[in-house]
Amino acid sequence: MASDETRKIALVTGGNRGLGKDMALSLAKAGMDVVLTFNSNQAEGEAVADEVRGLGVRAAALRFDLTDIAAIDGFIDRLKGVLEGAFGGAQRIDFLVNNAGIGKAMPIDQLTETDFDTFANVHFKGVLFLTQKALRMMNDGGGVVFITAAADRYCVPGYGLYAACKGAIEVFSRYVAKEYGARGIRSNTLAPGGVATDFAGGAIRNNPMLQEMVVAQTAMGRLAEPHDIGGLVSLLCSDDARWLTGQRLEATGGFNI
Ligand SMILES: NC(=O)c1ccc[n+]([C@@H]2O[C@H](COP(=O)([O-])OP(=O)(O)OC[C@H]3O[C@@H](n4cnc5c(N)ncnc54)[C@H](OP(=O)(O)O)[C@@H]3O)[C@@H](O)[C@H]2O)c1
Repeated sequence: MASDETRKIALVTGGNRGLGKDMALSLAKAGMDVVLTFNSNQAEGEAVADEVRGLGVRAAALRFDLTDIAAIDGFIDRLKGVLEGAFGGAQRIDFLVNNAGIGKAMPIDQLTETDFDTFANVHFKGVLFLTQKALRMMNDGGGVVFITAAADRYCVPGYGLYAACKGAIEVFSRYVAKEYGARGIRSNTLAPGGVATDFAGGAIRNNPMLQEMVVAQTAMGRLAEPHDIGGLVSLLCSDDARWLTGQRLEATGGFNI
């Protein structure tokens, strides 16, 4: 394990539950300090931070709401405060994992402008401006991982707005790779398929018929676990992935191939 002074620091949005929780724990197991964010579930966020600290690294949980674009600067100030305090005077981070997100089946005909603004803020505008500001305080040699969705390759009826926002971020990620590569900063997108979390009101978790359909079309013949995704994030944030940038990796166990 690296010393307090040399350990890398990762910021994981939406790290209090679901895929983000496993990402935070996977990064900690790989020896990184972790700042995770929650939106509404503070107790869960603090509990995950405790679990991360139990692995021998530093951790903090901060509130962060992707729908409140004007508050991103305030969040960055609070992040800097945590780094200077609980993280022993650190000034910068090494990795940003843009994981937080929402999902809901919304047929195109029923979409409203409010739906558009909410999804565009959470999955595109908020992610873009958080990334811009995080890059200003990122060490050279760091990286960004954007969690997108396999559903921007194949179509799941009702998820057009969601998938279009994820697709936009995949394009943005390549531009981050291009503009920041000279600093050794890498940018990649990881696109999971369905995982049985709270996502979209537990759409997969609560629907055995949907689970059967997913398993039947998955080459590896099972449903994904959060750790199938968290482990890959940890790999993308490791030195072993140092030559990988501007890429979209799809993590579905071979769904619909
Ligand atoms: N699960 C899947 O099937 C699946 C498939 C493909 C892609 N993904 C993507 O994977 C990511 C994580 O999904 P998940 O399955 O872990 O979902 P989840 O279990 O529903 O967790 C969502 C996370 O996002 C946070 N969040 C929600 N709204 C937010 C907002 N306005 N601002 C900031 N944070 C917010 C939540 O915080 P609180 O708990 O505090 O509200 C929570 O930590 C998402 O980007 C999702 O699009 C998921």
